[in-house]
Amino acid sequence: MAVKLVTTVQELHSEGARLLAGKRGTSQGLVPTMGALHEGHAALARAAVEQNDVVVATIFVNPLQFGDAVDLDRYPRTLEADLALLDGEGVDLVFAPSVDEVYPGGEPLVRVTSGRLGEKWEGASRPGHFDGALTVVAKLLHYGLPAAGLAAGDGTGGGLPAYRAYFGQKDAQQLALVRRMVADLNFPVEIVGVPTVRAADGLALSSRNRFLSPEEREAALVLSRALRLLEERAHAREPLDLESAQALVESQPLVALDYFDVVDPATLEPLAENCRETPFRGEGLALIAAKVGPVRLIDNTPLSS
Ligand code: PAF
Repeated sequence: MAVKLVTTVQELHSEGARLLAGKRGTSQGLVPTMGALHEGHAALARAAVEQNDVVVATIFVNPLQFGDAVDLDRYPRTLEADLALLDGEGVDLVFAPSVDEVYPGGEPLVRVTSGRLGEKWEGASRPGHFDGALTVVAKLLHYGLPAAGLAAGDGTGGGLPAYRAYFGQKDAQQLALVRRMVADLNFPVEIVGVPTVRAADGLALSSRNRFLSPEEREAALVLSRALRLLEERAHAREPLDLESAQALVESQPLVALDYFDVVDPATLEPLAENCRETPFRGEGLALIAAKVGPVRLIDNTPLSS
């Protein structure tokens, strides 16, 4: 395996600097993950490898973003398979720290607050989740900063390497929050959103899909079908008729709908009057969340017309 595994911040910095210098690198990509990797993560790694000289992936199951200790314990740990997938995509370095490495003093007293944007949709059913996720993303973005002082080394004028971090559009609210954190708090990194990867039947890939029974997996397809219905109506410049798409989801007995709405992609505020009776115009994001049996699933699709 060519990919190198490190577990301390010090090793990450020295290996990262060595790789950048060795490749005369002018750009570094970071792919933060919690492991249990699937094709969706492979797409993040692939995009990062295409766009950067050096790519670092992180694998860290962050206790701060789990409300429930049972969920945290149940989260799959599949390091060997994860390393093989990242290696296959051409990732150079994997940082898989312990909880003590990331939180040496225990839970941090100061955290990033996700504010109003983090309280709605997923935030409403998972209080504190986005504060925990943003706090660790802030730390990971700092850990992954290309080593200061490295010249570009290609004769184009030197300077610090470009720095990009990759997040899936599947977690649309997390992506919107990370973008806001980076903009509002001036992090020197470009955030790249990577489109959701779906199974052939439309189900959005998620590490939670492994907890679905075959019947629940079949029932879960109603989420992507309902989103596709909205996409088709937006494309045809018809009213979105969200109610009938909601009714489709609610007709599936194994699915308990939590929310389904069309929002502004940046603020996640509902675009209520732009979708009911009049043809849809502009840019929107359809967000859906439901429990399928015991498994909570989320999905979304961009809308434009
Ligand atoms: O999306 C995830 O896997 C996690 O929320 C992240 C961004 C790695 C932070 O723990």
